[in-house]
Amino acid sequence: MRDLFVSLLFLYPLVAESKTCIPRRRVVQAFNPTRNASSDTTPFQVGNGNFAFGVDVTGLQTFKPFGTLSTWGWHNFSLPTTPGQMSPEDFRGQDIWTHGRLVNYNNPTKAQNDISQWLIKNPQRLNLGRIGFSFCGADVAEADLEQKSQVLDMWSGKIVSTFVYKGNKVVVETRVDPDSDVVGVQVESKLLLSGDLGIFFDFPYSDINKFDAPYVGVWNATSSHTTTLRASGNQATIQHVLDNSSYFMAAQWEGDGAVSAPRDGSHRYTLKVSGSNRLKFTAAFYEKDEIKPPTTDELANATDKWWRGYWRRGGFVDLTGTKTGNATELQRRVLLSQYLMAVNSASTNPPQESGLVNNGWYGKFHLEMYLWHSLQFARWNQFPLLWRSSPNMYRRFLDSSVIRAKNQGYKGARWGKMTDPTGRSAPGEINSLLIWQQPHPMYFAEIDYRSFPNATTLANWDAVLTATADFMASYAFFNESTGVYDLGPPLYPVSENGDYNTTMNPTFELAYWRFGLDVAKRWKERQGQPVPREWVAVRDGLAPLPVQNGTYVVWEGIRDMWVDRDTVYDHPAMAAIYGLLPPPPPSSGPPLDMDALRATAARIKETWALDRSYGWDFAMLAMNALRLGDARQCVEYLLHPAFQFDDAGYPLGGTRVATPYFPNSASLLLTVAMMAGGWDGAEGMHFPEGWDVKVEGFIPGL
Ligand SMILES: *[C@@H]1O[C@H](CO)[C@@H](O)[C@H](O)[C@H]1NC(C)=O
Ligand SMILES: *[C@@H]1O[C@H](CO)[C@@H](O)[C@H](O)[C@H]1NC(C)=O
Ligand SMILES: *[C@@H]1O[C@H](CO)[C@@H](O)[C@H](O)[C@H]1NC(C)=O
Ligand SMILES: *[C@@H]1O[C@H](CO)[C@@H](O)[C@H](O)[C@H]1NC(C)=O
Ligand SMILES: *[C@@H]1O[C@H](CO)[C@@H](O)[C@H](O)[C@H]1NC(C)=O
Ligand SMILES: *[C@@H]1O[C@H](CO)[C@@H](O)[C@H](O)[C@H]1NC(C)=O
Ligand SMILES: *[C@@H]1O[C@H](CO)[C@@H](O)[C@H](O)[C@H]1NC(C)=O
Ligand SMILES: *[C@@H]1O[C@H](CO)[C@@H](O)[C@H](O)[C@H]1NC(C)=O
Ligand SMILES: *[C@@H]1O[C@H](CO)[C@@H](O)[C@H](O)[C@H]1NC(C)=O
Ligand SMILES: *[C@@H]1O[C@H](CO)[C@@H](O)[C@H](O)[C@H]1NC(C)=O
Repeated sequence: MRDLFVSLLFLYPLVAESKTCIPRRRVVQAFNPTRNASSDTTPFQVGNGNFAFGVDVTGLQTFKPFGTLSTWGWHNFSLPTTPGQMSPEDFRGQDIWTHGRLVNYNNPTKAQNDISQWLIKNPQRLNLGRIGFSFCGADVAEADLEQKSQVLDMWSGKIVSTFVYKGNKVVVETRVDPDSDVVGVQVESKLLLSGDLGIFFDFPYSDINKFDAPYVGVWNATSSHTTTLRASGNQATIQHVLDNSSYFMAAQWEGDGAVSAPRDGSHRYTLKVSGSNRLKFTAAFYEKDEIKPPTTDELANATDKWWRGYWRRGGFVDLTGTKTGNATELQRRVLLSQYLMAVNSASTNPPQESGLVNNGWYGKFHLEMYLWHSLQFARWNQFPLLWRSSPNMYRRFLDSSVIRAKNQGYKGARWGKMTDPTGRSAPGEINSLLIWQQPHPMYFAEIDYRSFPNATTLANWDAVLTATADFMASYAFFNESTGVYDLGPPLYPVSENGDYNTTMNPTFELAYWRFGLDVAKRWKERQGQPVPREWVAVRDGLAPLPVQNGTYVVWEGIRDMWVDRDTVYDHPAMAAIYGLLPPPPPSSGPPLDMDALRATAARIKETWALDRSYGWDFAMLAMNALRLGDARQCVEYLLHPAFQFDDAGYPLGGTRVATPYFPNSASLLLTVAMMAGGWDGAEGMHFPEGWDVKVEGFIPGL
């Protein structure tokens, strides 16, 4: 019955490239960001989801060493030499009593501090290099340039920057190839002809800070790493070696020119051209396999085509008919977020919180945040960007996750948390005790199946879902005295502010376990396969969602909920059980208590310390408000003063997280997709009354 309904939904038009009614190009370009000075905190960026290049007002990294970050560029510092802590295999973690048995958790310990810290801080994501204008000996600062102006054309994925130096105009176009990690630059200026303008390439050593914002890399540790130049014709290849990491940057230019090596012990190379007032060059970054770069013209055409396709396919929201300031701001945030997600978060690995702008948590990615980052690609009908990482990432990390579960005495696969490209999860109490990343594969799979209800989708996700459900069922603990399955202790719920040794049955995790096991059961049924009995037993036997005094609370037995300022902060995740998550189908157990849901939303609004909240909290509350029928409140949360985006659309971090903090952008898009396409039982648009809105390309969510 449900599947028939899903198939009918599938008939909602998937927008073809040519058939859009909204003048998408006009709407997008009306919000192209412009600058006339470099920002101190964020670049303008071009990129392809796996590689991005951040620039200052010159269109390159002349004055500000913004990042050149990739999916593949990582570095390890040397291992500790402390006896008994000399390799990752020496790390022992911490045993914690878990329902009457000792279970080993991936926690740092004082006794093994050195290897614990090494495992947290390594590997780090590398800033691959810096490309800027060289003024050929002159000491030039940004203030010395006049008439600076810059526009990022989101429709074609290019940045056009102009400025005047010594009375001469310089025009720069900057792009990144959609299919390879190649920057394409075109410069026009008489200063090229006169020899007053060239290009420099520079390479930093690695940083070891948890947060490296706004810049990544150490520029003055020049003797800790090496670069070597191999030049021939109009190509120069520079190999950069940092300890065990090695990669190349190959520059190729049109016309006469040469790259010269530094003579001052630095790693700053200079490209000078002669005989022309035009310079076209590409800079290709790669680890091992040489890239045959496109010409700058080919690259420009490919970039143009890719971005035009990106904007024309998928969902689109046009709020330009609504003439209030808040609709215009929402439209601005939506379009800039769409651009920045494709540049920073469409990788073959889950994106890091700061995307490819700079490094948070050493550049590692967090699997519980993966849903917030990437579900929006599916909801905006941009599946190919989601499929770069899913389900392949889960498949790649399956074996190590099975070992993680097995070592703790569980069945199936326990997904890690703060993760590097090998799938290793960094030691940490929160890292090892958080559980809400576990059902994410079910959400992704179900959304994938909704749009592509066929055998391929079922097969793609089956092994991942089976192992995930096996873990979830075996993790839930049957409590003989209450006769229900408990989650934890020990655990950390979404809000990371409890005592893990006593916290049990958090509301969101219980609801999500039920959702996940229910999807896993249906997945088996769709394939005509038997459903493991434990999945259903746990789904049906989970502890009831904790309600106190008529409201859902963050976890069972929490004291002084709504009263103590130390409980009414951090993520109000109980609001996500009716918002981010759909209400449970009747076949999977008792319905939600609608009165309690409304009372909870009201109490959060009255008492929650939203000034201490960040990011996706606002989107989570907005989705909750929307499902409760209050579109006005939804918009109010999306435009909350503590939820800010800068002039180029970068979401501001705050005291607890760095800028940019991309879960904000992604969760905003997830919410707007819900406003545009609705959800099961409430299909269609949900914007505030009186708004004049056009949407296309959305289907209802769960
Ligand atoms: C630079 O941009 C700012 C902000 O957009 C604007 O207020 C200012 O007038 C601009 N300055 C020039 C010289 O264009
Ligand atoms: C860093 O070291 C770990 C542990 O030995 C290894 O798995 C990983 O591949 C290394 N990464 C890099 C970029 O060297
Ligand atoms: C670097 O590589 C060598 C040789 O493979 C290895 O012994 C050493 O542990 C590596 N160092 C790090 C920090 O990964
Ligand atoms: C939790 O319990 C374990 C013993 O199982 C103990 O070693 C640890 O210190 C406790 N943690 C906290 C934060 O109380
Ligand atoms: C590099 O610069 C930093 C910050 O300016 C400084 O603290 C450090 O001592 C310098 N290191 C070297 C090797 O010069
Ligand atoms: C780029 O596209 C233009 C316009 O379609 C075309 O005339 C030109 O030949 C293309 N250039 C290359 C190098 O493909
Ligand atoms: C299932 O749908 C996907 C996405 O449209 C498509 O690529 C694939 O070929 C389909 N598989 C089958 C067996 O129909
Ligand atoms: C069973 O549940 C009760 C009430 O939630 C709790 O106090 C008790 O510790 C649980 N028993 C076990 C063995 O975990
Ligand atoms: C219970 O809720 C009522 C009304 O919302 C409130 O006045 C009262 O203080 C609450 N009691 C506790 C213990 O939270
Ligand atoms: C939008 O802003 C206007 C003017 O500030 C205000 O009257 C209106 O209520 C706002 N609408 C929403 C949905 O927030």
